[in-house]
Amino acid sequence: MCGIVGVVGKPAKELILNGLRNLEYRGYDSAGMYLNDLAGHEYLTKAVGRIKNLEEKLTPDEQGLVGIGHTRWATHGKPTVDNAHPHFDETKRFFLVHNGVLENYLDLKAKYLADTTFKSDTDTEVAVQLVAKFVYTEHLDTFTAFKKVLKLIRGSYAFLLVDNTEPDHIFLAKNKSPMMLGLGDGFNIVASDAISVLDQTRKFIDLNDGDVADVTKDSYHIENAAGEVVHPAAHIVDIDPSAASKGTYEFYMLKEIDEQPAVIRRLSSAYLDENGQPKFDQKLVAAISKADRLYIFGAGTSYHAGFVGKEYFEKLTGIPTEVDYSSEAGYHFPMLSKHPFFIFLTQSGETADSRVVLQEARKRNIPALTLTNVQGSTLSREANYTILLKAGPEIAVASTKAYTAQLAVQLELAKAIGCYLKQEVAIKFDLKKQLALAAEGMQRIIDGKAQLETLAKADLVHSRNAFYIGRGLDYAVALEGALKLKEVSYIQTEGFAAAELKHGTISLIEQGTPVIALINDPVTAGLTRGNIREVESRGAKVISIVGSEFAVDHDDIVLPATDYLVSPFLTVVPTQLLAYYASKNKGLDVDKPRNLAKSVTVE
Ligand code: F6R
Repeated sequence: MCGIVGVVGKPAKELILNGLRNLEYRGYDSAGMYLNDLAGHEYLTKAVGRIKNLEEKLTPDEQGLVGIGHTRWATHGKPTVDNAHPHFDETKRFFLVHNGVLENYLDLKAKYLADTTFKSDTDTEVAVQLVAKFVYTEHLDTFTAFKKVLKLIRGSYAFLLVDNTEPDHIFLAKNKSPMMLGLGDGFNIVASDAISVLDQTRKFIDLNDGDVADVTKDSYHIENAAGEVVHPAAHIVDIDPSAASKGTYEFYMLKEIDEQPAVIRRLSSAYLDENGQPKFDQKLVAAISKADRLYIFGAGTSYHAGFVGKEYFEKLTGIPTEVDYSSEAGYHFPMLSKHPFFIFLTQSGETADSRVVLQEARKRNIPALTLTNVQGSTLSREANYTILLKAGPEIAVASTKAYTAQLAVQLELAKAIGCYLKQEVAIKFDLKKQLALAAEGMQRIIDGKAQLETLAKADLVHSRNAFYIGRGLDYAVALEGALKLKEVSYIQTEGFAAAELKHGTISLIEQGTPVIALINDPVTAGLTRGNIREVESRGAKVISIVGSEFAVDHDDIVLPATDYLVSPFLTVVPTQLLAYYASKNKGLDVDKPRNLAKSVTVE
């Protein structure tokens, strides 16, 4: 959500445009850039829509050796040119970009800026006008005025600020929104994530909440929240930049769906030894084993992965497990057992809703583990333990390979804890073999993707609404399948526990309404068949996705045989492919669905 790139000491325009393109996945609806050539010329350019609109507005003469760029995902004020960043003060001396939300901007505006003329409807503009106010009225230098503003602000921010009277400096600050400082030879870069500027440097400093810094081309001065000067160590980011490229694919989403068998194999070798025994930090395994209840938190797709995890932890460890939306738990904290353990599922590691729960957990000394795909992300740094999902960069807004990676890591962890607790079912569960079968089965489904495109074209593309139904683990996948289809194709889709339709929602079934039925649960397979007949007799067009042992002649997609616990790895793949092909065949931008952001850093 919002992307930021700033550079000092190097031709800035192309570098920022490239960086912003790499941050497109975070979601945005307008973009802007401020450039200063350090020879008395400056350029401020903004455009609504895609980055190419910004690029088209920039003339070849507009260049800079310092620049700050931004992609905006509208929160306060519509996506218009005036509301796009960078924002500036009345005298056009200070230019600022911001990722986050300033909660008390109206109070600050009323208290300090009653006479100021505002150009935008944003919360951000208050920050830059306030810097100017303190510089002019209190005769503070820019860095001091900036720090004074930060003390007054309540909310989340990653800020970059340029003062055109000392344009060879970028001032930055971070609180709850991601930002990294990249170190170059004769230049320095600031960006929302490392991947966006990996072509420039691999050496990065992680900034902490409360940090504020003054950066020039060959120096950086960082102060922490307490005002102390700090010297954090730089680290090398070891990501293959080609992993973040689309290659020959038209969309990242299909590339990422296709990568899933490889991700599962990678996780098998990363977290299982040659005998198939899980190899996690023993302190972590011991800590979880002491818990009398596990609490899983997540949002969207990660929340759905939590329902599969609940089944894994309960079956293999015997520890009762609850799943909650982070956004709900943050302010309606669950009633806790005596020895709770918290598990956060978050692909990005930056989701603001999940972070609220983690901060509350820290206050109460509840041990916490984050499962994330992003090393060094905020939720990873703030939890007691982290396990990486190792799915490789996920760029499409719709999460696919991070979901299946979350399933795999939860299953491996559940096995580790179950074995530690000497649970027979965990000891007997041959996870290495099951993960190998899962990867093989996923590959077979991917190889047969043409059939899913045919189904999507015939039954989904022209539909207004659709339903997913399933029981047990199939219900968990039904929730995820429904989210995937609606978010990328805009077909309103709901996931239901199969028996629940007849308690109200079946009234929505009309001639031709698509109902996608998932059947892998040995206990309830027959009952779900009954639910299929109920909707078919009311005109539904059923697409059945069924494990081979439960298949009948007319089933649409028959999944290779696996253990029930592993079945979601397979079932979810056709649901992802149906969503992908429905979106693509509607001519939509599959990777960047409207209104959505990849990294949701506001509550
Ligand atoms: C949907 C999707 C979102 C995210 C959710 C949480 O495809 O990607 O629902 O799962 O915004 O994000 P993370 O996992 O980064 O916490």
